[in-house]
Amino acid sequence: MDNALLNRQVVFFAGKGGVGKSTSAAAFALYAADQDRRVLLVSTDPAHNLADLFHTPIGGEGITRVAPNLDAVEVDVHRETHRYLDGVKENIRRTVRSTMLDEALRQIDLAAHSPGAAEAALFDRMVSLILEESQAYDLLVFDTAPTGHTVRLLTLPELMGTWVDGLLKRRHKRNRDYSHWLGDGEVPDDPLYDVLSRRRQRAAAMRDILLDDQTTAFVFVLVPEYLPITETRNAIRELADWDIHVRHLVVNKLLPEGVTDPFFRERLAREHRWLARIDEYFPDLHPLRLPLLPGDVDSREALDQVAREMARALDPGR
Ligand SMILES: Nc1ncnc2c1ncn2[C@@H]1O[C@H](COP(=O)(O)OP(=O)(O)O)[C@@H](O)[C@H]1O
Ligand SMILES: [Mg+2]
Repeated sequence: MDNALLNRQVVFFAGKGGVGKSTSAAAFALYAADQDRRVLLVSTDPAHNLADLFHTPIGGEGITRVAPNLDAVEVDVHRETHRYLDGVKENIRRTVRSTMLDEALRQIDLAAHSPGAAEAALFDRMVSLILEESQAYDLLVFDTAPTGHTVRLLTLPELMGTWVDGLLKRRHKRNRDYSHWLGDGEVPDDPLYDVLSRRRQRAAAMRDILLDDQTTAFVFVLVPEYLPITETRNAIRELADWDIHVRHLVVNKLLPEGVTDPFFRERLAREHRWLARIDEYFPDLHPLRLPLLPGDVDSREALDQVAREMARALDPGR
């Protein structure tokens, strides 16, 4: 039924902390690799121990092979924030007049502590991975997703507005005129022009990828409880405002149907009511249901089990 998910090039797992994004992402990546897709799993969760899950030492900045067809990379949000701001500073150094430079750099240091800096940096790294690694892989799986707020970064007027077009065009013309006047045919270096046009191209390329349903999928993970359901509904609406349409849900940690203990019967009855609510709230989405395992998913064996459940949910005919 839902093998469409398998045919995407980029799949994001979104949802609140603790619902099982990292677990679902790893299980889906493993399943896709097993289906002969070349997969890169991008983990952004410092607490999520890929090394234990895959019985393979991984870490640092490099990409590591963790299973046949499956590579993984761990992205450190703290490191990315500093890398991102260093990049911004570098651009500023090349483009801002020296009288203003100290103040500009000070503002950027302050920005490191502003809400959203880490999110923006993480998103920047996602963009790099998607734009640069997509040749080597059929599928990139992320255990976290950009929010509507970060997607907005791609539509910022400074990046997409028509005045940038005008600015770029004018600078380009001026640069050409200079080289004409100088008669050496050499277009002068113009760092601001380069920075702006490069950023703009990246943003446009990323927008095309994110907004293309055939290329990218957002999977929301939730557990059958009131708050996660409400928050998922809000998050899906927020993304829709940016033209991103979520088509997949994972409902994780479902109790076994066969429980007999009155306590668990009560929990199960409750769960059924929330599942009905999920169907009502998200009539167009086919929830992939994953059972609650007896223990944490902290070993390759447990992950294999979740991957099998994922396979069953995605392809009930198998
Ligand atoms: N289906 C499941 N059964 C049992 N434990 C699970 C299941 N899915 C996730 N877990 C456990 O729940 C915790 C949170 O999962 P995780 O994938 O890290 O969530 P998130 O990435 O959304 O914060 C982890 O300890 C994980 O092992
Ligand atoms: Mg996680």
